[in-house]
Order: sequence, then structure tokens, then C-alpha cells
Amino acid sequence: MPAAIDADDLRKSYGDVQALDGLSFTVDAGEFFGLLGPNGAGKTTFINTLVGLARIDSGRAEVFGFDVREEYREVRDRIGLAPQEFNVDRFFPIREVLEHKAGYHGFSPEEASARAMDALETVGIAEKADTRFDWLSGGMKRRFMLARALVSDPDLLILDEPTAGVDVQLRRDLWSVIERLNEAGTTILLTTHYIEEAEQLCDRVAIVDQGRKVEVATPDELTDRGTDTIEVGLADPPRTAPELTHEDIVDARLADGRLVVTARGGGAVIPALVRDLDRAGHEVTDVDVRRASLEEVFVDMTRQEGAVQQ
Ligand SMILES: Nc1ncnc2c1ncn2[C@@H]1O[C@H](COP(=O)(O)OP(=O)(O)OP(=O)(O)O)[C@@H](O)[C@H]1O
Ligand SMILES: [Mg+2]
Repeated sequence: MPAAIDADDLRKSYGDVQALDGLSFTVDAGEFFGLLGPNGAGKTTFINTLVGLARIDSGRAEVFGFDVREEYREVRDRIGLAPQEFNVDRFFPIREVLEHKAGYHGFSPEEASARAMDALETVGIAEKADTRFDWLSGGMKRRFMLARALVSDPDLLILDEPTAGVDVQLRRDLWSVIERLNEAGTTILLTTHYIEEAEQLCDRVAIVDQGRKVEVATPDELTDRGTDTIEVGLADPPRTAPELTHEDIVDARLADGRLVVTARGGGAVIPALVRDLDRAGHEVTDVDVRRASLEEVFVDMTRQEGAVQQ
């Protein structure tokens, strides 16, 4: 089975702005894949090149083996997109908007009508079927965007910040809808600024910055690269931090009578740390570890790339 997305050395500029600067990565069929990056990193531009809303200057991208430029129709029929910005016919009942979209993807009027109601039920706004988009609440609009992406029964669902600005309850509702779709075989590409969302949902994430890929890994692998904080209580705290030589220890200092150690792979360092302290005559009363969050690792990685843009 070909990859859901295979992008190779994509470049796209808007005037002086190099929105995509040699972006390459692969999303496997069936994967739940996250695209993370600061504002302006090129995430939406990348999505737009896949669905034919932006022309690539050079490079190549395929969706399930179909070239996004040469085989545009095949690509379009396999993708359901919930875009970052609302772009909806505001004046028609939402049921009709969905029927029209399903029709456009080749479903008969009866099928289109059934699919439209199914999609509205899936996202929990079936009772609003005859309301126009304008009259939905903000959260319902987000739900509707997901319904519209689903109505064509896509193999690849692309969600560009699907939960931006929605409340916690709705976010969790949307997560469970998306997770169910993924379990049923739909490949998901999700962009988000909620690191918690990526951590919870994604099999792998790509971090992009300035139109380039910085890293691809599982959320766990990424958090493993961060430094953890180990706080050690000592029965009789010394005035200065004891000398610690373990190679994974980055820093050790005393704060409010507790020893605060920064280390790579924190948990693994603890036995050696306690032993060294014991040998030096310190009595350890308690140990507390705080793991690096994906967010901290992400901020570190994109800052190293010099991405802080105004
Ligand atoms: N149609 C356009 N015309 C001109 N410049 C554009 C256009 N679309 C995007 N850009 C520029 O390309 C760069 C990448 O933008 P893009 O929307 O892809 O970022 P993003 O990663 O989706 O950011 P965000 O997290 O803010 O949504 C930005 O500098 C943006 O201003
Ligand atoms: Mg965007």
C-alpha cells in the first residue's frame, strides 16, 4: 500500500517569503500524524499544496500514490479537509451544503443525502441540519467543518487546527470522533498548537519550522530528549550543591534547601544520584521527578532553529 502522503523537497514561495523550503516527509496509511510548528512555519501552505489550493514551485508530493499536480482529481477524492479558516456557503442549510459536497465527489442524490445526515450525526449537530452556517454557535461551526470533511468518506482526513478556540468539552468530543475514524482506518493529518492534543492523539509528529522539517518522531521519543528535573530532599541540606559527576546530569543547584538536578533521561539517573549522595554523607529523604513536556522540547527545538518571528 502506498504512503498516505509522500512529500519530497517541496518548495513554495510567496514573493520574498519562502513558505516551504525543501519540506520532505512521509505519512503511512492508517497513521495518526501531527504537524507542529510555530505560526508561519508553513503548515497550512503544505496542506494547500496537497489539495490543490497552492501550486508548488518545485519538489513532488503524492497522496496514496497519486501525484498532487498530475492526478489532482484522484487526490481530491481521497482527501477530506477541515481548513483553518471557515470557507462555507453561509446562506444554505448546512444539510444542503453537505449534500452538495457529497454530490461533487460522485455520490448519487440519495447517497449524498444519507451521507449528509450521517456526518451531522457523527459530529452531534443533526438537530441543526436545516439551519444555515451563520446561525451556528462557534463550537457548532467547528463541528460542521469536521462533518464537511467527512461527508465524502475520505481515506485521508486533514484537520488544520480543528480545535482552535473551542472549549475543553468540545475538544474532547472532537478528539473521540477523530480517534474513532482513525481506528476505522482513516489516515489523519492534524495540525495543532495544543501540544497536549498531539501528545494524546498522534502516533508520530513532525516539527516544522521556516518551511523545513526539524524532526519526525513519536511524542514519547521527543519528550525523552528533553531534560527532566529531579528534586531531592536532604535531611541536612548543605550550603552548596554537592559535586555530581554523572554524565547525564546537566545541572545541580540548591533551592529552598532542596537539591534540584537537571538531567537527561531523569528516571534512569536516580539510583546513581542517590548512591553518590549517600557516599558523600548526605541522607536522602525523598525524590521527586518531573518529566520534560513535549511542549518544552518543541519550544527548544524551534528556538534553536531561530524561529522567533515577530
Ligand atoms: N496566500 C499567501 N500569500 C502570501 N503569503 C502567504 C500566503 N499564504 C501563506 N503565506 C505566508 O507563508 C508563510 C507560511 O504560512 P502558513 O499559513 O503556511 O503558516 P502556518 O504554519 O499554517 O502558520 P499558523 O500556525 O499561523 O497557521 C507565512 O509567512 C505566510 O505569511
Ligand atoms: Mg496555518
